[in-house]
Amino acid sequence: MTDERLVVVSGAAGAVGGAVAEELREAGWRVRGVDLRPAAHGVDEMLVGDCGNAEFAERVVSGASALVHLAAQPSPDRLRPARTFLNNVPASFTLCHAAAEEGIGVIVAASSISILGMAYAPDDSTVVPYVPVDEATPLQIADTYALSKGVDELMLGMIARRFGATTIALRMPFVATGEALDGWGRAVAADPAPRTGELWSYIDTRDAARAFVQSLDAGLTGAHVLTVASSASLGSVDVEQLLARHLPTVEIRERIPAGRSAYSTALAAQRIGFSARWCWCGGTLGREQPSGLHTSFDHAP
Ligand SMILES: NC(=O)c1ccc[n+]([C@@H]2O[C@H](COP(=O)([O-])OP(=O)(O)OC[C@H]3O[C@@H](n4cnc5c(N)ncnc54)[C@H](O)[C@@H]3O)[C@@H](O)[C@H]2O)c1
Repeated sequence: MTDERLVVVSGAAGAVGGAVAEELREAGWRVRGVDLRPAAHGVDEMLVGDCGNAEFAERVVSGASALVHLAAQPSPDRLRPARTFLNNVPASFTLCHAAAEEGIGVIVAASSISILGMAYAPDDSTVVPYVPVDEATPLQIADTYALSKGVDELMLGMIARRFGATTIALRMPFVATGEALDGWGRAVAADPAPRTGELWSYIDTRDAARAFVQSLDAGLTGAHVLTVASSASLGSVDVEQLLARHLPTVEIRERIPAGRSAYSTALAAQRIGFSARWCWCGGTLGREQPSGLHTSFDHAP
């Protein structure tokens, strides 16, 4: 029997998964966490195992009405690169396919802006053609982690078409909060060059968590890929100035005021009501300003 408020959260022991699980519980969901290791907090029940195991995946999705899929190796270099792909893709496919076969109506999964190719590119020849970056920006996948996210996005489209489920892939930049985000903000303000591959972007973990909950409740149908990011730049850097210095071939299609992000989140605003609430702005971690810093690249691709 399906429990209408039971959601499976894979990767629940991870940094983002823990925050998502807590946000879901606050929104009235019962959370069944799943991970290779036990989750310390935020879940009502916990199943420990590999999402890539078919029998385990069937048990995990049994009776649930929604899936939030975060389980993955979150970069190509924590394991050997091939192992990243060989962990992530079977885990995503096995769990999401089992969810669809179980009749789960909505699947929200973590994707990554690394799919654009720059974050882990082998050299500096991979460059986005224009900013603000949006969901129509061409993919230039250049590593096994990004490839696993590209396969996830395609697979979610297949599941929406084949099973009639709603699928939403949330493309996130670097996710952090608290001291970690503060540390990165200060480091990037002092020396922006190391974050060029990510176009100086980030999302506060609390905003990422809210985006997953909003996705479940948005009442969408079909398959969606949405970018969610802070509307501020990491370290409050001036993206246009840095592009001119480091990436002069990038076409600036819309002006990016100093301190603003290179990413458009207009589509996420339109489809799930997303807007970031938290930022590392002007040297401190705090709430985004009600004017100026909200999503104002207001065209969706
Ligand atoms: N952290 C970021 O900056 C960032 C940015 C963009 C996207 N993402 C994506 O968000 C998601 C969460 O990332 P995170 O930062 O919380 O990573 P994390 O490493 O903290 O958490 C990921 C969790 O997934 C679990 N896991 C991995 N493979 C598994 C498997 N086969 N079966 C069961 N569990 C498995 C791990 O044990 C871990 O607890 C990932 O999909 C990641 O790719 C993260």
